[in-house]
Amino acid sequence: MITHNSSNKRDLLSIMDLSRTDVDEIMELSFDLKSDWSDRRRTPVLDGCTMAMIFEKASLRTRSTFEIGMRQLGGNTIDLSNLNIGMGTRESVADIARNLDRWCDLIMIRTFSKERAETVAREAHAPTINALTDEEHPCQALADYMALMVKEGTRNLSGFPIAYVGDGNNVCHSLMCLAALLGMDFRAACPDAYMPSREYIQWAESQARGTGARITVTSDPDEAVRGARAVYTDIWASMGKEHEHSERVKVFQPYQLNAQLLTAAALGAYVMHDLPARRGEEITSDVMDGPTSIVLDQAEHRLHSQKGVIVWLANIAGIRPYL
Ligand code: CP
Ligand code: NVA
Repeated sequence: MITHNSSNKRDLLSIMDLSRTDVDEIMELSFDLKSDWSDRRRTPVLDGCTMAMIFEKASLRTRSTFEIGMRQLGGNTIDLSNLNIGMGTRESVADIARNLDRWCDLIMIRTFSKERAETVAREAHAPTINALTDEEHPCQALADYMALMVKEGTRNLSGFPIAYVGDGNNVCHSLMCLAALLGMDFRAACPDAYMPSREYIQWAESQARGTGARITVTSDPDEAVRGARAVYTDIWASMGKEHEHSERVKVFQPYQLNAQLLTAAALGAYVMHDLPARRGEEITSDVMDGPTSIVLDQAEHRLHSQKGVIVWLANIAGIRPYL
C-alpha cells in the first residue's frame, strides 16, 4: 500500500481551490522545470511514481503532456479510458478511486460532471487533478497564462487586458478565475444564452476586489475586444454538447475570432485558443496561423505548467521518489 500523507494532501479540481500564493508557487516550479527541460537536465524527482489518468472524453494535448511530463519527472502513467473501467456502470466512482489509491501516487481525471472528479478526490488520498470537466479546465488556464508570461517577459500580468469571445464554458470559467487571482483585466463576450455561470463570475468578482483585477462580462464582442492585448476563443460545442452544434453555430457566428474582430484589439494582440479548433467556425485560419498567434505556445506550456502542478501537489502530499 502506498503511504499518502493525507493530512496535507491538496487537489487541483478548480482554480477556485487556489490562492494567489499557490499560483505563484506553481508558476515558480513550472518555470524552473521548463528551464531544466530547455537545458536538457533530468529532473527525476518522482522516480518510480505512478499517475493514473482517467479519460471519459477524447484528448491529444492533455494525454500527451501528462504522460510525457510524468516520464520527464522519472515517473510513469497508466491510461484508463472509460471504455475499460466503466465508471459508474461496471464499478462506482468511489470504488475505482479507492482501488487506484492503493497503487497510484497521483490521479488525473477528465470527465463530464465536476461531481465525479470531486468524488475521486474525496475517496483517494492521492492528489487528484482535474484535466477538464464540463465546468472547468484549470490546467489549461495555468498553461495559457504561463505562455503569456513568457511572451511578455514578465510574471506580472496585473492589468493585462485579455478578451475571451464565444462560449462561456469550462475554459472561460478557469481563465476568468485565474485572471482574477492574477489581477488581470478580463473581458468575456458570450451570447446571452451561453454566459459563464453565475458562481464563477461571483467568485472572480470577489477575488478581483482584493487583487485589483477587472472582470467584465458582456454579450458585445467589440466591447470586450476593444484595446485587448490578447483575444482568446474556444470551440462552440464542447465535448458532450456536439448534438447542439448546428443550433450553436448560428448563435455564435458574431463571436467568430477573425481579422475583422481583431481590428478592435490592440495592435499586435495575441491570438489564443486552447485547441482543438474548428477552423472556419470559432476562429479563421488566417488569424489562427497569423503572426501574433500563440496557440502552439499555449499547447507547449501544458507540459511545463502541469509538471509544476504535479510537483507542487507531490511536495505537499510528501510523495517521494523510489530509491
Ligand atoms: N486543450 C486540450 O485540453 O486539448 P486536448 O482536449 O486535446 O487534451
Ligand atoms: N471547451 C472544450 C475544451 C477542449 C479542450 C471542451 O470541453 O470540449
